[in-house]
Amino acid sequence: MNPRDFPTIDEIEEILLEHSYVTDRVLATVIYLTLKLRKPLLLEGEAGVGKTQIAKTLAEVMGAPLIRLQCYEGLDVNSTIYEWNYTRQLLHIRMLEATACDIDDQVERDLFGEQYMIKRPLLQAIELAEDGSVPVLLIDELDRADEEFEAFLLELLSDFQITIPEIGTIRAPEPPVVVITSNRTREIHDALKRRCIYHWIDYPTLEKEYRIVTLKVPQAPAQLALQMVQFVHEMRELDLYKLPGVAETLDWAEALVALDAQELDLPVVEDTLGLLLKYQDDFEVVRKGHAEKLIESARSQSVEQRALESPGIASG
Ligand SMILES: Nc1ncnc2c1ncn2[C@@H]1O[C@H](COP(=O)(O)OP(=O)(O)O)[C@@H](O)[C@H]1O
Ligand SMILES: [Mg+2]
Repeated sequence: MNPRDFPTIDEIEEILLEHSYVTDRVLATVIYLTLKLRKPLLLEGEAGVGKTQIAKTLAEVMGAPLIRLQCYEGLDVNSTIYEWNYTRQLLHIRMLEATACDIDDQVERDLFGEQYMIKRPLLQAIELAEDGSVPVLLIDELDRADEEFEAFLLELLSDFQITIPEIGTIRAPEPPVVVITSNRTREIHDALKRRCIYHWIDYPTLEKEYRIVTLKVPQAPAQLALQMVQFVHEMRELDLYKLPGVAETLDWAEALVALDAQELDLPVVEDTLGLLLKYQDDFEVVRKGHAEKLIESARSQSVEQRALESPGIASG
């Protein structure tokens, strides 16, 4: 599907849902604009709230290749744009020598042609896929890269072209769909933000998280799913070092299903807390002071929720 073909925002919500991604109105609008205006989308939010998944799902929906650049400190041209394939170049030279051919200027030029180049994600992303589709470029966890890389990215994102000394300037025939994520361990520069459509992904509402759990772990009994989601929501109010994201809720749901749990109770919660929390101090906080209260509250509220039959929750 061509990214410009999405006629409405509602349709974006529907198609993403068909591909197991739950959006809300604002996020669907932002995605719609990203596709229509072809402006990069910068997603910030805590870990595990569904940032990376958006790029993956978009690529799936568009039937386009996903080109992923995982950021880390020290990213450079060789790992992000291109690198010469020295082994192949050397082999070619050896072959010429063996056949007693001269190594002249033309040979040298050939040696620095596209066939001796290893294309890295940013270069791949400004070319169309073989079937002519526009790729989705995911620049994941940009906050992990250093600022020089950000400056370089700024240039690329402004005109979608790359200059390679030996070859010349390569320009994207059509800008790729770009999704940049950041876990906000540091601020992304204003200049880059200005180039992008910005969206903060918060922890989901109770209703949204319930929909995600029932969509992704359909084996979970409704009662259990409701209680879990309530539990996680109240847990996010606690003063913990690392709050659980949607990823942790889903892992927990799978664990509880594997244990055949029908409802939350103290033993089952204590035994499986390691799927939600990853720091010993957080464990202590929850075990010593809050586990029972959280369970009680989740159990009573989930009964209330069902009684109220709130449309979103009851129909899932
Ligand atoms: N809105 C959502 N709809 C469906 N699944 C979601 C949603 N948000 C998060 N998830 C799931 O949660 C997990 C973590 O998402 P991910 O995109 O890796 O988080 P992040 O990149 O923000 O750290 C994935 O399994 C993803 O499918
Ligand atoms: Mg991620």
